[in-house]
Amino acid sequence: RPLEINIELPAEEAAQRFKIGVYFATWWALNVVFNIYNKKVLNAFPYPWLTSTLSLAAGSLMMLVSWATRVAEVPKVNLDFWKALFPVAVAHTIGHVAATVSMSKVAVSFTHIIKSGEPAFSVLVSRFLLGEAFPMPVYLSLLPIIGGCALAAVTELNFNMIGFMGAMISNLAFVFRNIFSKKGMKGMSVSGMNYYACLSIMSLLILTPFAIAVEGPKVWAAGWQTAVSQIGPNFVWWVAAQSVFYHLYNQVSYMSLDQISPLTFSIGNTMKRISVIVSSILIFHTPVQPINALGAAIAILGTFLYSQAKQ
Ligand code: 3PG
Repeated sequence: RPLEINIELPAEEAAQRFKIGVYFATWWALNVVFNIYNKKVLNAFPYPWLTSTLSLAAGSLMMLVSWATRVAEVPKVNLDFWKALFPVAVAHTIGHVAATVSMSKVAVSFTHIIKSGEPAFSVLVSRFLLGEAFPMPVYLSLLPIIGGCALAAVTELNFNMIGFMGAMISNLAFVFRNIFSKKGMKGMSVSGMNYYACLSIMSLLILTPFAIAVEGPKVWAAGWQTAVSQIGPNFVWWVAAQSVFYHLYNQVSYMSLDQISPLTFSIGNTMKRISVIVSSILIFHTPVQPINALGAAIAILGTFLYSQAKQ
């Protein structure tokens, strides 16, 4: 008997690792495609409030159709669920629109370098707002994260304050999203996929009036005509791709969150940023100076040290 157990456990573990590996690879690949199309759209059509709204709308529509056709199981949720989801959705909406505004102003790689500083925000918010203390190595790991991001920011050739602040606000908002969603998910039996679907729907309802107020249909119609005249009819497919891939990468990330610890998730998220930074630099021919790249590398190394220290 013990022999049987010894043989079966590694096989199960290997299968689980393989499954998580597939989730991670899919998550990163979908994220790279989203980031490329999102930037292509924003270069031709600089209206991040509309593109963020469309991303949420595409996801909401896909999930409503999946529920109606029973492709996905309809979640059994009550009023308490939606109440608990509200602060998560507010934070998700702010984080999403701020990141998109950032990417409309600066290179995709720059936004993601600043976003690799998210663990620093997480520690500072937990320490100063929630009174949670961490061991010394965790605080020390913040030095390369903050120092690396600062070095990358001051040496960025196309620095823009709105682009920088957008990425910083997104970091802060996503830290709150993670704190609220941990609290809100307690005792609820909703799958990662359905949780993200409900989050998209609520965020869409929150964002739509703001998007209309900040940009509005008149500006969108004029901008759309200009973009189509520059890019041609393919422009609509770029918009569709950025919207659909935004939902898919987030859905897969929430599905993998079901399977792994938040720590493994944050390591996966940092590695995702490396693939986005490298591929967007290659595709958009983003100019990078050695000192700028050094800053990014230090910041990313810092997030790895942080994950080790937290362990
Ligand atoms: C967004 O538009 O919401 C951001 O690109 C999300 O960034 P992240 O999922 O890579 O943190």
